[in-house]
Amino acid sequence: MTSLAIIGGTGFDTLPDLVIEHRAPVTTPYGDTSAALLRGRLAGHPVLFLPRHGATHGIAPHQINYRANIQALAQVGVTDIIALGAVGGIAADCGPGVLCVPDQLIDYTSGRELTFFSDSSRGDERAAVLHSDFTSPYCETLRQQLLTSAAAANVPIRAAGCLAVTQGPRLETAAEIRRLERDGCDLVGMTGMPEAILARELGLCYAALTFVVNWAAGKAAGEITMDEIHANLTACAGQVGQVLRAVVQV
Ligand code: HPA
Repeated sequence: MTSLAIIGGTGFDTLPDLVIEHRAPVTTPYGDTSAALLRGRLAGHPVLFLPRHGATHGIAPHQINYRANIQALAQVGVTDIIALGAVGGIAADCGPGVLCVPDQLIDYTSGRELTFFSDSSRGDERAAVLHSDFTSPYCETLRQQLLTSAAAANVPIRAAGCLAVTQGPRLETAAEIRRLERDGCDLVGMTGMPEAILARELGLCYAALTFVVNWAAGKAAGEITMDEIHANLTACAGQVGQVLRAVVQV
């Protein structure tokens, strides 16, 4: 039996349609999660929700305790994770408002706790594994479920794409975005890693649902403003909610 969790990102510190039944603080060997896990129902179906930036969006991308968050979800029996992510658009068809289920990523982050295998002195049996296959960083089964659900909900969605994960919290320079584009990236966000690899290390099925809230640096005239980002977040929220409601009903 699967147990689904949704990790909320920018714009989703709460999940508007979630009927909350239980708030569960979880202690992990890696410290505290970003917030208490919320157990509830979405469209009548059980789901767990965790806002990765904290309940009031106080935790920056580089300060998130990704290990505690993923470990906590595994500890309470979660098998599948849908990770929401507000991103910048790099590819010509990834303008503001576009939803995408990426199939690849490139990790440009640094200095983050990026593995559960770093502390072999703890005698953890996981330390024996070390080199996880990450050829396809997302769970294909869950990716396909998201795409089928989007189609069922009549929500247009880009079926694949390469997500660049940058360190933040600043946005990129125009030259950095040109480099990411040359590398083959379609989208850019700040929280996709190490979340994806940590889920893989624990054997969880993890997929991302991204939504574009701004053209990446240099892709449109002028500066990127928070007003623009917030306006596009509001514009995307309805469609993201529709896909999530459809996916829990499968
Ligand atoms: N760059 C990185 N992360 C982001 C962006 C961006 O332009 N927009 C939203 N998250």
